Amino acid sequence: MIDKEKIQRINELSKKSKAEGLTDEEKREQKALRDEYIRSVRENLRSQLDTIKVVDPNEIGTFNPQAQEKLEDQSQKLKDEIKSQNANDERLAVTLRGNPANPIGEDGLKMLERMNESHKPLVDWALDGLVIKVPKTILDIGCGGGATIANLNRRFPLATIYGIDISPVAIEKSIEENKELVLEDKVRITEGSVLDLPYGSGFFDLVVSVESYFFWEDFKKALEQIYRVLNRGGTVMLIAEAYKGKMNPITEYLQDELNLRLLSPDELRAFFTEVGFKDIFVQTKEDQSWMYIKAQK
Ligand SMILES: C[S@@+](CC[C@H](N)C(=O)[O-])C[C@H]1O[C@@H](n2cnc3c(N)ncnc32)[C@H](O)[C@@H]1O
Repeated sequence: MIDKEKIQRINELSKKSKAEGLTDEEKREQKALRDEYIRSVRENLRSQLDTIKVVDPNEIGTFNPQAQEKLEDQSQKLKDEIKSQNANDERLAVTLRGNPANPIGEDGLKMLERMNESHKPLVDWALDGLVIKVPKTILDIGCGGGATIANLNRRFPLATIYGIDISPVAIEKSIEENKELVLEDKVRITEGSVLDLPYGSGFFDLVVSVESYFFWEDFKKALEQIYRVLNRGGTVMLIAEAYKGKMNPITEYLQDELNLRLLSPDELRAFFTEVGFKDIFVQTKEDQSWMYIKAQK
């Protein structure tokens, strides 16, 4: 079992990470300690499993059916726990190998397929908060696996929807996900970066981006680009499943591993104001760590 001092150190590092950030050496120490902690929890579960013996009623004379049921129940619970832990580990491993900042390879594709499903409730919650004049031109930045483009098409069937992403894997997947709409020229997907948007000024009525802004190398420059491509009165909405100040355990883990640059609602508002947006509105969800920010040019 991992000792108390190490657990205390894990907590110290986690607090410091949130408050002021960690040095590279502390990050390495944090990763080593977390790995050791996970190993130790697993070993502990496995050894509990090993000590459980389901008694065979034919083996001994005094058979207690209630005790056997309890042991079987306990054994099944532990097995389920290990199974779900392994499944979570596998998801995390695919995410880390697939690289959400710029999806690559088979794992990148697997991860995007999964995000198409898993981000849907977040995206629906946020897009339900859009009360705007029906848009004719929409841009999805960091379109990933393309599910948000399809979602936007269902909501705004008359619009032409553009998707952009820096990842060739994401471009391929977004096209496949929306192939009929692409053929009808209702959806146009382009490889490129938010830092240099290949569209004319004032072109879009609506710009959205889901789970992407925290990867952008220069957030202010990205916002300036969004401001430029929006028309006057156009709306931007950035959507994320976590923000600085409220995270779920997975984003907390990924923040350290992938260097996510999450911002707090106040920091986001300050950037939007500086770039010139008006009617800036941040919405968070109480029972989740979700948030969106929307504003107008
Ligand atoms: C976590 S994925 C989210 C994908 C999709 N929006 C979703 O919700 O499932 C982040 C996406 O942002 C893209 N991305 C990162 N930096 C970008 C940039 N500078 N410009 C455009 N897209 C970017 C990545 O390639 C990736 O596809």
